[in-house]
Amino acid sequence: MSGRVFANCTLATMVAGDGPYGLVGNAALAVNNGLIAWIGPASYLPQEYSDWQRHDLGGALVTPALIDCHTHLVFGGDRSHEFALRLGGASYEEIARSGGGIMSTVEATRAASDAQLLGSALHRVDDLMADGVAVIEVKSGYGLTIEHEMRMLRIAREIERRRPVRVRTTWLAAHALPPEYAGEADRYIDEVAIPGLERARAQGLVDAVDGFCEGIGFTPAQIRRLFECAAALGVPVKLHAEQLSDLKGAVLAAEFDALSADHLEYLAEEDVPRLAEAGTAAVLLPGAFYALRETRLPPIAALRANGVSMAVASDCNPGSSPLSSLRLAMNMACTLFRLTPEEALAGTTRNAAAALGLDEDCGTIAVGKRADLAVWDAPHPDFLSYWIGGDLLRGRIQAGDYHGR
Ligand code: NIG
Ligand code: FE
Repeated sequence: MSGRVFANCTLATMVAGDGPYGLVGNAALAVNNGLIAWIGPASYLPQEYSDWQRHDLGGALVTPALIDCHTHLVFGGDRSHEFALRLGGASYEEIARSGGGIMSTVEATRAASDAQLLGSALHRVDDLMADGVAVIEVKSGYGLTIEHEMRMLRIAREIERRRPVRVRTTWLAAHALPPEYAGEADRYIDEVAIPGLERARAQGLVDAVDGFCEGIGFTPAQIRRLFECAAALGVPVKLHAEQLSDLKGAVLAAEFDALSADHLEYLAEEDVPRLAEAGTAAVLLPGAFYALRETRLPPIAALRANGVSMAVASDCNPGSSPLSSLRLAMNMACTLFRLTPEEALAGTTRNAAAALGLDEDCGTIAVGKRADLAVWDAPHPDFLSYWIGGDLLRGRIQAGDYHGR
């Protein structure tokens, strides 16, 4: 059986410890059955690959395909009017407490047909794919009944059948309290979030469990009960933590060996070692920081010093992060959070894979990993974070097949 050799390229393997970006110049890459079989300088390509079909990449830069590890991209309606309200001085929390915010998207999502939800989600997926994204995490959280939450995840899974991307689905029923449960958050956890998780999991719809641990969301005690159910089911957890205040959500997430704790602007420096000890990734969401005009920065220096894996994601959602470009999220992570361009690319490849529990099979260019790669018109990997906008993606290698110009 023979595969294919991609030659004449610069590889940014993103393998940790292999020098800046894990760069390999004048490189070749052999792919077999959708997996990477060999990488290295072209002049060292072993004889056994010499009669494999060869594809010349014309000197292009090749990185692992990008991974967007935190999105809410299945939703109905939009919230452009809130943009104007916020510019007029209203805060995200004020809008949420007055019935706007997440609840207005819940109404629009419940009212939308499956076809409408899928169609609008696919537009956002196409935007992400134009930035070289091949794996997308999608959360529920705008249905807030068992049926509507499961419908969101079914639609998210349908994306995989319509586009050449992998989708990971996350149960986020503990996102907001619907009006039918006003003042009864514990009852909502007992009647919707927990039994819905059990049902959705039994139907194979859930890869991870998430919650919104916040004054306008759920308390750590409520999230703990949900996480105990997830642990009993063997489902990994992640958490929206310390986005607007410090409720010690990240510490709770670490206690459950969470895949990730996300947002973290209000994370206390003294809590950072807990994430490191648990191997929990910090998912940074500079799009939400930017769109909400937040001024408090996540404790980046402490995360870095403690060796916490930092991922970067779009948080694509209609309220706090109306953003469907992962490269722009990388640029913002550098400009606003002071990540290096290399950290930003690690954040959308190697560390994003870790944040989804997929680090065994993607996120770096290494033998045995999936041959899902992005081929760029860029002189250097720094360029991917530096340049704002533009059409830099020359092509994609998906399961070993080349698509592009
Ligand atoms: O990640 N924080 C809660 N969830 C989303 C916002 C969702 C919304 O506003 O619709 C976030 O920022
Ligand atoms: Fe989010």
